[in-house]
Amino acid sequence: MNFPFPLSPLYPLARAALFKLDPEVAHNVALHSLKTLETAHLAGFLASRVHAPREVFGLQFDNAVGLAAGLDKNGEYIDAMAALGFGFIEVGTVTPRAQPGNPKPRMFRLTEHEALINRLGFNNGGLDAFLENVQRAKYKGVLGLNIGKNFDTSIENAADDYVTCLRGVYPHASYVTINISSPNTKGLRDLQAAAQLEKLLSTLQAEKNKLAKKHKKQVPLLLKIAPDLDGAAIKDIAGLLLQYGFDGVIATNTTISRDAVRGHKHAAETGGLSGQPVFSPSTEILRQMNKALKGHLPIIGVGGVMSAENARQKINAGASLVQIYTGFIYHGPQLIRDCALALK
Ligand SMILES: Cc1cc2nc3c(=O)[nH]c(=O)nc-3n(C[C@H](O)[C@H](O)[C@H](O)COP(=O)(O)O)c2cc1C
Repeated sequence: MNFPFPLSPLYPLARAALFKLDPEVAHNVALHSLKTLETAHLAGFLASRVHAPREVFGLQFDNAVGLAAGLDKNGEYIDAMAALGFGFIEVGTVTPRAQPGNPKPRMFRLTEHEALINRLGFNNGGLDAFLENVQRAKYKGVLGLNIGKNFDTSIENAADDYVTCLRGVYPHASYVTINISSPNTKGLRDLQAAAQLEKLLSTLQAEKNKLAKKHKKQVPLLLKIAPDLDGAAIKDIAGLLLQYGFDGVIATNTTISRDAVRGHKHAAETGGLSGQPVFSPSTEILRQMNKALKGHLPIIGVGGVMSAENARQKINAGASLVQIYTGFIYHGPQLIRDCALALK
């Protein structure tokens, strides 16, 4: 439902209240409030949707601005998020079994930098609960389902966890994201190294072929990469994605670098840094990946989109679509609209 006078300009007031709370508490309060509004059919008042349709990966997107993974790890808020005007929604990361994640506190705000550091560690309710939530959602737009491995599954057996998740999510996903780039699960990023990655991609592609026959549908597989890769690693990854017939890339996850926030009281916290400081490194990785792929695969650009201009810069660097997470925390639903209009 669209309201003639969207309330999104009032977000700074909500933000002022939320930012007085611990970041993880604020996250939960905001999501519960949104869900309550959505259930009462009022969430549409918070934003007015931009229709700017486009086709990427053979899918029809309502606009080019999506919700990045990790905000709704269990797929509990899909309809509420859709009401805010996102052109597509990605939920997860889900792991086969439920797990609590790392001890709290594990999320930190670096307000001066419009940034967050998190080391949540894939806290989620597991695949079965995730699938129940996804199936309960009424949302009919593009839905990405993001999969990972449990913290206690060894890197040698990681492919088993991804296969378990892929089998579960395949019938319900518009696209599936293989997340091997979170810095908060020990060894996960090692899967980006060529030998490990080849094993993982070949296993997943073989499984996908079976699932495509079984479910009579082709679901695009995307790989989500880190912003902390060097040029050689990017070339290796691009080569393997093309060799194993993957459909696209999400560039990027959070960074382990602290160069841009040195001296901040939270800079030494372990975890992934997101928001404004990750924009430059992330956009550079996007540019290099686009070059390495020679335009053969579409890329979703994510990392530090805090303004419509940032969204344009991602597209200019080679992205076909963008996603936002930290920018949404700092600027609210108005940012979705501003970016979607800028990319129209
Ligand atoms: C608190 C938090 C949790 C996240 N959890 C996940 C996750 O579970 N899976 C994933 O693929 N990315 C996750 N991300 C990464 C985001 O999807 C995104 O790639 C990254 O934050 C960069 O975008 P941003 O600067 O717009 O936040 C998380 C980010 C944050 C801030």
